[in-house]
Amino acid sequence: MEPKSRSEDFSTQKGAVDQGIDRRPQPYRAMIIEPVLQLRREDETDLRTSRSPEARLGEAVGLSAAINLEIVSSGVVKINAPKPGTLFGEGKVAELAGIVAAEHLDLVVVDHPLSPVQQRNLERRFACKVIDRTGLILEIFGDRARTKEGKLQVDLAHLMWQKSRLVRSWTHLERQRGGAGFMGGPGETQIEADRRQIQERIIALQKQLEQVRRTRELHRKKRKKIPQPVVALVGYTNAGKSTLFNRLTEADVFAKDLLFATLDPTLRRIKLPYGREVILSDTVGFISDLPTHLVAAFRATLEEVLEADLILHVRDISHPDTDAQAEDVKKTLNDLGVSGSHGAPIIEIWNKIDALDPAYRQKLLEKKEGEGPVALSAMTGEGVEQLSARIDAFMAQHDDVFTVRLPVTEGALLAQLYQVSEVLDREDGDEVIVAEVRVSDKQRGPFRETFARFLDD
Ligand code: GTP
Repeated sequence: MEPKSRSEDFSTQKGAVDQGIDRRPQPYRAMIIEPVLQLRREDETDLRTSRSPEARLGEAVGLSAAINLEIVSSGVVKINAPKPGTLFGEGKVAELAGIVAAEHLDLVVVDHPLSPVQQRNLERRFACKVIDRTGLILEIFGDRARTKEGKLQVDLAHLMWQKSRLVRSWTHLERQRGGAGFMGGPGETQIEADRRQIQERIIALQKQLEQVRRTRELHRKKRKKIPQPVVALVGYTNAGKSTLFNRLTEADVFAKDLLFATLDPTLRRIKLPYGREVILSDTVGFISDLPTHLVAAFRATLEEVLEADLILHVRDISHPDTDAQAEDVKKTLNDLGVSGSHGAPIIEIWNKIDALDPAYRQKLLEKKEGEGPVALSAMTGEGVEQLSARIDAFMAQHDDVFTVRLPVTEGALLAQLYQVSEVLDREDGDEVIVAEVRVSDKQRGPFRETFARFLDD
């Protein structure tokens, strides 16, 4: 007998159809299911176990909403014994199929890995599309990848994933037909043809990627000419990166600078209170349990981080799972080759302090002193000035101020000076231009190469 799954925590919101409202073009009507396996192996080192199922469901709902899904129904489903064919027990499958039919759903997202067989069986039973966590993440990356390389990388990950699933379902079909040695059945021919087609597309995409990477090197070299240091915001999805990005750029005239906005809306030049300029870069949010085969696709969306001079790790300190989230971000940064000893230094930001209980907030703020994390509220603006000062202080440790004496005849060099340094002061004489310039760590080499002979001793 199938143990009946409990469903008291499964909620369904009234959909637009029931209210007789026509809202076309409509987003996909979707249901999000957060399966909780009751029997977990003792030795399982799954970070997700440190999160409550409700928090995980909240994250999955947030992610799904970000790609234009209308979440009509969502809930946690406890599973005592996962079924190889359908993951859920028969009673639960029937109950969920009932909701899908009643609510006219287009899509069911199962926030858990599904085998190809489980996915196919559930699609049959629900009579709608079913995707699992990897499928959902691929959709999000596809939606958010901005660079050409990022988009190609996501397409490639998608195809690789599809291919692996075809292989596995093929093996499964073989077994059903009575084992190895069975040649050329219609199903097999179709799957083989699908595989070949996917393989051809993979090769074509890899070639395109190679081409894009070559041109990207050129772009990167151009970018290197920008004298300002790059500050990259990273953080868990929903931590408040974009809010902080807007807060830091809004008050500044440079925020409206279209130079970067046209190239990439997530790259802006800002002037810190003491006059220093930096480039601020927003990134795609981190997601827990990023499957390893998606790391390359994610990495492609994080190019700025790999080249940043300083990384701001934005945390939602009011979130119950804030520590687990921070661990995920640190682990992913590590996997990307950015860690304490490698890559840019990281400043932790404790965001959303306005949402904290006052007593806890007091305790927390007392704990953090000096060079620790910066506590702030991107929403109210509290603490944002301290962050600017902190960035400024960090940059100050890494740059130098020089006085350059350039003959007025050296027009080309003067233009170059503006490229590799920030001109703080300039006096134009009849024969010599005297400029006081600030040179960042990353521009010191190119600067010295060209201007050593024009420097004051
Ligand atoms: P992704 O784009 O998913 O990576 O999210 P993000 O990190 O860019 O977060 P975003 O800035 O979109 O903010 C997520 C939610 O948190 C929004 O509803 C914000 O209004 C809210 N939020 C951001 N900063 C604060 C804050 O300081 N306090 C409070 N209470 N809410 C905040």
